[in-house]
Amino acid sequence: MKAHLTLWFTLLTLATDYAGTNSYWIPFLTNDNDVDVIMGHLETSGQKILRVWGFNDVTSVPGSGTVYFQAFSGSSATINTGANGLQRLDAVVKAAEKHGIKLIINFVNNWTDYGGMAAYFSACGVSSNAQWYTASRCQTLYQTYIKAVISRYRNSNAVFAWELANEPRCNGCATSVLTTWIQKTSDYIRSLDTDHMITVGDEGFGLAGDGSYPYQFGEGNDWAANLALPNISFGTFHLYPESWGVNNTWGNGWIQAHAKVCAQLKKPCLFEEYGVPTNHCSVESEWQKTSLGLKDSGMAADLFWQLGDTIKSTGQQTSNDGNTVYYGTADWTCLVDDHVKAIG
Ligand SMILES: *[C@@H]1O[C@H](CO)[C@@H](O)[C@H](O)[C@H]1NC(C)=O
Ligand SMILES: *[C@@H]1O[C@H](CO)[C@@H](O)[C@H](O)[C@H]1NC(C)=O
Ligand SMILES: *[C@@H]1O[C@H](CO)[C@@H](O)[C@H](O)[C@H]1NC(C)=O
Repeated sequence: MKAHLTLWFTLLTLATDYAGTNSYWIPFLTNDNDVDVIMGHLETSGQKILRVWGFNDVTSVPGSGTVYFQAFSGSSATINTGANGLQRLDAVVKAAEKHGIKLIINFVNNWTDYGGMAAYFSACGVSSNAQWYTASRCQTLYQTYIKAVISRYRNSNAVFAWELANEPRCNGCATSVLTTWIQKTSDYIRSLDTDHMITVGDEGFGLAGDGSYPYQFGEGNDWAANLALPNISFGTFHLYPESWGVNNTWGNGWIQAHAKVCAQLKKPCLFEEYGVPTNHCSVESEWQKTSLGLKDSGMAADLFWQLGDTIKSTGQQTSNDGNTVYYGTADWTCLVDDHVKAIG
C-alpha cells in the first residue's frame, strides 16, 4: 500500500531526479504496436514519466476509426469502453507497464482540445468553465468519468499519478473557487484509490514572485493554497514564456519560485510542461539545469512538452506544434540524452 507515495518521497530525500515528457496523443493512436514502439524509445532513452490525456470528450460521436472516450448527448454522458474508446488507453497502460514507464493520467481539459469542460456544458446546463467548477451536475458527470478511469487502472503499477485537469483556470474568479474544487476532487479520488498520487495539472499561476502576469492571481489560482491541500501529493507548473509575455531567462526564476514553495510545504515539485517554438536545445537545457540544480530543495522531476516520434505503421511524424522534440534528432540528444546523463 502507498508504494508509489513512498517511492516518490524516498526519491526526494535521496535527492534523485526524474526526466520525462508529455504525449497527449499517444492514447489516440489505434495500433498497439505503434504505442509499444514509442514506449520502447522512452525506455531506452531513460525517460521515466509520461503524461497523457486520459480524456477525449465529444459532443457528437465520430466515425468508427476515430478515438473518443466520452460522448455527451442531451443531459447525459456515455463513456466509450469500446475498441476506439478506453481500450486505447488500456494499450498505453499495458505498454507503460511493459517498459517501466510511469503515467500521469489527466481527466479533463480547460481548453477545448479533445472536448474539455466545454464539452460538458450543455449536458450539465452551464456556459463557462467558471460555472463548471461549481455546478453539481457537471461535477457529478466529471466524477463518474474519473471513477470509470480509475477503476480500470487502479491496480496498475504504471500509474504515477491521477491529474485533475489540464491547466485549470477560472479567470476573474475568487481563488477559493478552484481551491474548493481541487479539494473536493482530490478527496474524491483519494476515496477511490488510497495508493496513487494525486496532482492538479495547473500552469503554476498565482504565487509570490516578481509580480509579472504568471505570478498574479487573476486566472483564479492560488498555487501554495492548492498545493497545501491534504490530498494533493505534489505540485505542478508549466512554462511558456512566449505565450505569457515574459522572456526565456525569466523562466529560471519561475522554477526557483515554485521550488521554494514546494520546499516550504515539504511536497515535491514537478516542472510538468515547458516549451519554446525555436532554439529548443539552448533555451530548454538552461531550464533543465536550473530544475536539476534544485533537486535538494523542492524540485523532483521535469517533463518537456512534447514528445515527437515517427509512427511505425504509417511512417508519419506525430503532431508538430513547434515545441515538439523528436526522437533521434539533435534536440533529443540535447534535451533527453544529455539531461538523463546529467541526472546520473
Ligand atoms: C480556460 O479557462 C480560462 C479561465 O476560465 C478561460 O478564460 C478560457 O476560456 C478557458 N478555456 C476554454 C477553452 O474555455
Ligand atoms: C483525503 O480524502 C479522504 C477520502 O475522501 C478523506 O477521508 C480525507 O479526510 C482527506 N484527507 C484530509 C486530510 O482531508
Ligand atoms: C528578462 O526579463 C526580466 C524581467 O522579467 C529582465 O530583468 C531581464 O533583463 C530580461 N532579460 C533579457 C535577456 O531580456
